[in-house]
Amino acid sequence: MPADMAPAPRHRSTRPLVITIDGPAGAGKSTAAKLLAKQLGLMYLDTGATYRALAYAALRRRIDLADRRRLARLGRALPIRLKPLESGAVRVLLNGEEVTRPIRTERVTEAAAILAQYPSVRQAMVRLQRRLAAASLAAGGTPSPARDVPARSQAGVVAEGRDTGSVVFPHARYKFFLTASTSIRATRRQEELRGVEGRAPSVARIARKLRQRDRLDRTRRTGPLIKPAGCIVLDTSHLGIEDVVERLRRYLPHGPNSDCVGPENSIC
Ligand code: DC
Repeated sequence: MPADMAPAPRHRSTRPLVITIDGPAGAGKSTAAKLLAKQLGLMYLDTGATYRALAYAALRRRIDLADRRRLARLGRALPIRLKPLESGAVRVLLNGEEVTRPIRTERVTEAAAILAQYPSVRQAMVRLQRRLAAASLAAGGTPSPARDVPARSQAGVVAEGRDTGSVVFPHARYKFFLTASTSIRATRRQEELRGVEGRAPSVARIARKLRQRDRLDRTRRTGPLIKPAGCIVLDTSHLGIEDVVERLRRYLPHGPNSDCVGPENSIC
């Protein structure tokens, strides 16, 4: 493991609240993470957006996606900003340019899946993700126009991705792992693609690609998609977004029912 991928140091006294939500594409992580962050007044950290923004920048510069060294160099200097919106969503800015939608296209999705395999790229992205979170936490609940960080009731982060509970924030207070059936994940992805590109491949074709990406995510040596130790697993296949968030909140202090462990959930 490269030195930079070593677990982040534990916060000593007033540890900020860090909640991680990992899982495969289409499991409902980002919608849940956004809403949870909004409800709790925390920063929403979309770690996938960092890989996507890097892929977008690389495609723009026509960098060969096999050129790990150049990609990692670009990743180390990626001029990305995540600008929180009132809705809980986040605007992604690259060098000041709005790239929120363009980073969701099929082309960028495929490029991001390739470069997310490279340890040197992951190392740069993990550093970047911790830096984005630290900047937000440093701003605390105080509005900071310079960083576009809105006032928050509590210092903390809801981080979402594949390795946020295992690598990026291994000492997170709450770790969730969301899953859903492949066909449901493909249907969700189809809707997302229709929204971004105006059209989308069939569910069967998307499902095939999702399975390929799952395999890449699960089998890579650095930062693979795993259920981190101590996580709570939730299958979202038949749950609406409000239900997902309500169930996640059961595990948090001051949630609707902090002692409850639903029958369909398991602590892994
Ligand atoms: O969650 P997403 O679809 O926006 O992620 C985009 C890509 O980045 C996807 O190929 C998985 C990868 N990724 C990753 O490897 N680690 C993360 N923590 C987040 C995303």
